[in-house]
Amino acid sequence: MLTVAVLISGTGSNLRALLEATASADFPARVVVVGADRQADGFAHAEQFGIPTFMVPFREFETREQWGAELQSQLEVWNPDLVVLSGLMRLLPAAVVAAWAPRLINTHPAYLPEFPGAHGVRDALAAGATQTGASVIVVDGGVDTGPILAQERIPVLPGDTEHTLHERIKPVERRLLIDVVRGIATGELDLSRFDAPAPTV
Ligand code: GRF
Repeated sequence: MLTVAVLISGTGSNLRALLEATASADFPARVVVVGADRQADGFAHAEQFGIPTFMVPFREFETREQWGAELQSQLEVWNPDLVVLSGLMRLLPAAVVAAWAPRLINTHPAYLPEFPGAHGVRDALAAGATQTGASVIVVDGGVDTGPILAQERIPVLPGDTEHTLHERIKPVERRLLIDVVRGIATGELDLSRFDAPAPTV
């Protein structure tokens, strides 16, 4: 059984979908803990499913690295097989990425490498794109630059607002995330091929 930690910042609708999927007896993964960088609304979903939570408030640390070190020690308590960033609105420091990669994945509401960053939906609209999408990637040292595990196109409709477009993207993100987690759990999706090459001496 693949154990999964999920990190969130917001409402956690993608987290909820993953909790629902993994609650079914034949799903080969379980969420073991949900963490956040703030008092996220999405904690309520974890509580409903009886999943433990932890919070490492970003604003209470002087540097991103100090925040990351505390986040890392919380994650180590649970030692999950996979860490899922599902709406975590913070960049992880390099040490945390290095500790988990490639067992660290992120969902993104655009068709990467198009529209990376915190405002993928807004940026697609501002660019006048006629289609955007949803992606699930392995996290690397960049901003939404890691290897793509799954993605799907979604049309931008006339009259779309950031809200309406994001609400159409999210169900696709959820489905892709659940499929990717299942694939990792069954071994169909082998993350070890994204292992960083051993340093040369
Ligand atoms: C998702 O679209 C995620 O990719 C983006 O923020 C959204 C999170 O939504 N970074 P929710 O918290 O799962 O509802």
